[in-house]
Amino acid sequence: MSYQVTIEPTGEIVEVEEGQSLLDAALRQGVWLPFACGHGTCGTCKVQVLEGEAEVGDASPFALLDMERDEGYRLACCCHPESDLVIEADVDEDPDFAGHPVQDWQATVSAITELTPTIREIRLRLDGEGMAFQAGQYINLQVPGVEGTRAFSIASPPAESGELALHVRKVEGGAATTWLHEQLEVGQRLALSGPYGQFFVRRSDPKDVIFIAGGSGLSSPESMILDLLADPEDSRRITLFQGARHLAELYHRERFERLAAEHERFTYVPALNAPLDDDAWDGFVGFVHDAAIAHFKGRFSEHKAYLCGPPPMIDAAITALMQGRLFERDIHMERFLTAA
Ligand code: FES
Repeated sequence: MSYQVTIEPTGEIVEVEEGQSLLDAALRQGVWLPFACGHGTCGTCKVQVLEGEAEVGDASPFALLDMERDEGYRLACCCHPESDLVIEADVDEDPDFAGHPVQDWQATVSAITELTPTIREIRLRLDGEGMAFQAGQYINLQVPGVEGTRAFSIASPPAESGELALHVRKVEGGAATTWLHEQLEVGQRLALSGPYGQFFVRRSDPKDVIFIAGGSGLSSPESMILDLLADPEDSRRITLFQGARHLAELYHRERFERLAAEHERFTYVPALNAPLDDDAWDGFVGFVHDAAIAHFKGRFSEHKAYLCGPPPMIDAAITALMQGRLFERDIHMERFLTAA
């Protein structure tokens, strides 16, 4: 049993299976709907039902107010059609969204590398043809014995579509990341779906690019930077600010130093905010947003900025960028990947 959902004002039609959310159906059919958290808490995916019936599902009362429910609003990520529908959505599709349809995948763990005491890289070789995705997007991974899925950004570039790299931080008390750190072995099989997400480089805007990353938040920027640098047509300047507490937590430094040496348009600025006494460190000492302020002398206008890392880092970076005259519309961030 399935229902047809017509999305106005574009008139696109999505086929939704019984029990499937409207957002899941749209993503699997390559149809743009805005979303962020994917589980009913942020309200980004709000749509209005103009004709037909759809149950509210697991929408948070803060993301979808009672009054809005009465007026026919629903959250696409958790609403389930109960008849054919006509809905109105904010389908101001981003011109840079490629619309690669979400699919289910089976994969074999091909390599595991310890990057820091708490972050490991897991490489997953996909069965079949590679996954088409945009650099910066993420997958939902099923972890054996753990309910639900966990979201991880893809750290490898789209050109390596048959094997995905993930940077997994072990979260204290987190069942999934603990299993991935303590039980996972090369050769094991895992199931996942993807690609998801609207965090990707807005290539139609030619402005120079700033990446600010902290912790395992380096994964998306790494994919995006490798992708941009591999494009001979692309000439924008790229600056990566990578923050960590001390030297052992600063991973892939040699990789980015090598890229900076190879590409005149790429600049790499690592920053440590709490270097240890025996860290051999002559780089920037302080928070990563302060490294960006120092580098650009506090003026960020005429850039696009992409932020990925812990929420306090993102908040501090937004403040610094906006005080440095960067418009909000030029700041993109990945806030919702909190896999535990
Ligand atoms: Fe966040 Fe639906 S409520 S994407």
